[in-house]
Amino acid sequence: VEEIEAYKTKITALLKEKNACLVAHYYTDPVLQSLAEETGGCVADSLEMARFGSNHPASMLVVAGVRFMGETAKILNPEKRVLMPTLEATCSLDIGCPEQEFSQFCDQYPERKVVVYANTSAAVKARADWVVTSSCALDIVEHLMDQGESLIWGPDRHLGRYIERETGADMLMWNGSCIVHEEFKAKGISELKAVYPDAAILVHPESPEAMVELADVVGSTSQLIKAACDMPNETFIVATDKGIFYKMQQLAPTKRFIEAPTGGNGATCRSCALCPWMAMNGLQSLLAVLETEDQEIFVDDGLRDKALVPLRRMLDFTS
Ligand code: 13P
Ligand code: SF4
Repeated sequence: VEEIEAYKTKITALLKEKNACLVAHYYTDPVLQSLAEETGGCVADSLEMARFGSNHPASMLVVAGVRFMGETAKILNPEKRVLMPTLEATCSLDIGCPEQEFSQFCDQYPERKVVVYANTSAAVKARADWVVTSSCALDIVEHLMDQGESLIWGPDRHLGRYIERETGADMLMWNGSCIVHEEFKAKGISELKAVYPDAAILVHPESPEAMVELADVVGSTSQLIKAACDMPNETFIVATDKGIFYKMQQLAPTKRFIEAPTGGNGATCRSCALCPWMAMNGLQSLLAVLETEDQEIFVDDGLRDKALVPLRRMLDFTS
């Protein structure tokens, strides 16, 4: 505990000295989430992380999350320096959607609007008409349908399938997935539900369709946290990265949150429901980057100009 406090004191002093602000995702280590809150930064979903960083007067943003979140911050705030505890923190959706191949796919259907999930590189965003996060994907796709558009959707096929099912949109889909959410098993959920019949089931839409079908609420991290607070249930089975329990427990301290099973027999494993890239963010790497400033995000100017257009569209639409 003393060691943790020593890290927190040093990090807090450096954030102040450098006019920096810590922006953390709900999946990061609870110690980073609490530090972000204590130092005037924020803990949020990917959409609100982007908005918070843009509105904050700090000259340096330290983004605790995965690389696309740092890139988004830089694209929106070229005048600010954007650092991350480690630039190695990527995302399976980003890895599974290389710009050249995605661009060739899009080129085959020039009549379709290209909608990409925020979990992509700056280069893939630069090829898109719209960027969405799971908080706003349904609303934006409905808006595009009202305009009579047909779509290309990338890269998460599970989120895409969910949106397609809810809206009836005409979507051609890229075949990407999240290695964390893909592991949740509907069979295990049904077994757990038999043990806790009054529990509400909360599911992030990056999960497979069979999970979504069992859910009481499907939503982004912030939407799942809101449901945990607003619903009258005392017990919740939660299918997303376990980092989210920090905020759920903080906002609903009397309620009980249970990890959704990743195995067919109701069993969970330590490394499941835990994004390996989010887990790269820790006190040590955060302190190191504030001392060395060596994990900095840069985005090429030409790319930035193009990627800014669909990102701004998303922020304007949701403001
Ligand atoms: P949210 O936009 O819901 O925070 O999700 C980001 C993410 O990476 C989920 O795996
Ligand atoms: Fe990417 Fe999945 Fe990790 Fe979210 S949880 S950052 S989608 S790999």
